[in-house]
Amino acid sequence: LTVQVSKPGAPIAKTMYGLFFEDINFAADGGLYPELVKNKSFETDDRLLGWKAIRGAAALAAYVVSSDRPIGNTNSHFLRLTANTASPDAGFINDGFRGMGVQQEAEYTFSVYLRRGPGNVAGLNVELEEPGRRANGGEAATPDRVLARTRIADLSSEWKKYSVVLRPSATAAHARLKLTLDGAGTLDLDVVSLFPKATWKNRENGLRTDLVQLLRDMQPGFLRFPGGCIVEGMTLDNRYQWKSTIGDVATRQPLMNRWNKEFKWRFTPDYYQSFGLGFFEYFQLSEDIGAEPVPILNVGMACQYNSAELAPIGRANGPSAPETHPADEPTLETFIQDALDLIEFANGPASSPWGARRVAMGHPAPFNLKYIGIGNEQWGPQYLERYEPFSKAVKTKYPAINIVASAGPSPDGPLFDAATKRMRELKAEVLDEHYYARPEWFRQNVGRYDNYPTTGTKIFAGEYAAQTAAIASSENKNSWDAAISEAAFMTGLERNADKVVMASYAPLFAHVDAWQWTPDLIWFDNLKAYGTPNYYVQKLFSTNKGTTMLPVQCAAGAKNGADNLFSSAVADDATGDIVVKLVNYSPEARPVSINLQGVKKLGKAGKATVLASADLNAVNSLEQPLNVAPKEGGFKVTSANVAYTLAPNSFTVLRIPG
Ligand code: AHR
Repeated sequence: LTVQVSKPGAPIAKTMYGLFFEDINFAADGGLYPELVKNKSFETDDRLLGWKAIRGAAALAAYVVSSDRPIGNTNSHFLRLTANTASPDAGFINDGFRGMGVQQEAEYTFSVYLRRGPGNVAGLNVELEEPGRRANGGEAATPDRVLARTRIADLSSEWKKYSVVLRPSATAAHARLKLTLDGAGTLDLDVVSLFPKATWKNRENGLRTDLVQLLRDMQPGFLRFPGGCIVEGMTLDNRYQWKSTIGDVATRQPLMNRWNKEFKWRFTPDYYQSFGLGFFEYFQLSEDIGAEPVPILNVGMACQYNSAELAPIGRANGPSAPETHPADEPTLETFIQDALDLIEFANGPASSPWGARRVAMGHPAPFNLKYIGIGNEQWGPQYLERYEPFSKAVKTKYPAINIVASAGPSPDGPLFDAATKRMRELKAEVLDEHYYARPEWFRQNVGRYDNYPTTGTKIFAGEYAAQTAAIASSENKNSWDAAISEAAFMTGLERNADKVVMASYAPLFAHVDAWQWTPDLIWFDNLKAYGTPNYYVQKLFSTNKGTTMLPVQCAAGAKNGADNLFSSAVADDATGDIVVKLVNYSPEARPVSINLQGVKKLGKAGKATVLASADLNAVNSLEQPLNVAPKEGGFKVTSANVAYTLAPNSFTVLRIPG
């Protein structure tokens, strides 16, 4: 291999490797957003989703979801409990999101709005308990175990917020919250929350620390949010509306998740978006992990795979009111206005209406938004019809904003189709391509962008992942075969850094007990998380992205990928290193000789980071999180011809000091 050190290519975009976040597989509620109570405000379509009356309510005279003088208009339902006689079992249980994960001696804030009704209810008993085991075969039953207990007293006859701290006596992955009446009579409850105190940056409405840490460790260039198909919705009613996701958390109205079983996805009839993690929190997360925020907005089209419902064009229905869903049939103007308002929310001064909303939420400085995605995975004439006025309106008001246009699903290559050509004519800054394909597709298509024009619209590989079996099947694994094939493909992205400026694996997160889609980059349960081999591939590319692409020539004019050897190289101005990435997709060790053509300065001690497994089916798991993980070693640099032997089935990053 010859690395042309003296002929540097394009700069590597700071955004080159980033993250795609979608609330799928319990990525938000039940995952990154650590609220432990499901349906805390009784506002989902099934008002009691997540809640269970204790003992079938035998001890309760009545329970009802009421809207009689609620705490607010946007939170109009609450739970009313009535017991005729005092009983330790008159109450309700919340199981959380496949149980509640709690750590021994950690602090959890329990908060609730209460209002005392007729009768003599003196307090609310609050217990965090680990459910006992039922007798099973030879195994005896075990009783429920109380992990923490408190009592809220001094009840008021008007709505009042109460807050106490619970400290569990033991760690449990599947705890639950039990609320019981102390005394006979009526008590109203709303906005029931159990939230860990330890969150990322210890924020009150903060995020799960171990999951944010995994993201931050990747040094991502951007964070694309909030999806994915949830941007589009199955129908337009079910689409993501950012204005409903900001402001006081208690006022954010839940929406059925597009990945709910109702929409034919597995396991999750209880999948809603609480929007506790909303657009403000996405911007804040981007800032925390050093990533450019890349919101993707609905273009006025529901998911084309499903309803393909369209917003009419050219009929104004007036400005959309903040925080309410627009009138029955929103027109394209509503969607465009939402985008303009979002830019103002992110970047506007305190004197602007939406900038003021950001400031009121505690972020006086602008978020410095530079990108807006118009539509997710959409294509064809209806998309173009909507994209054109949409992008024009954004550019007219905010010329500096970069537009991310959708290219529809690949992998069979819409790269040069009519819509793509039109996007280029319309001067979209970036084109968002998606491909989910077999591992071999990734190895065979390493040259996908070799002939793409170097000028004009750049490429965003916005969603991709190698599929070893059918999507959403448990056989579809995050295997080393999938990951190494993605690494091979990514050498092609890096070699084309003059055309490709963003790339992200998808989906990002999955809960082991509540997923709809496989494979996924990071898996977690209620207590722990692990990165897949694919995660380590992404991380190694991102943390070694360097600053300038260096051309790499293969032996005797062979193409990248010939004989299953894949490579790319960059210069890293920050360290002076030359960084060479090599994928050996072969069961044999392979000696390589790397000629650093035109190199002026060379250190002696090289650093090699190797991700390898002889077994292409190897995976990581909660029990073996580092089964396939990077290992570091050194190698000697004695001349401008660097010799190194690649391990079988390996992805190796060589840092050669300059
Ligand atoms: O990543 C899962 C889904 O795949 C996304 O929601 C969608 O954009 C794509 O089809």
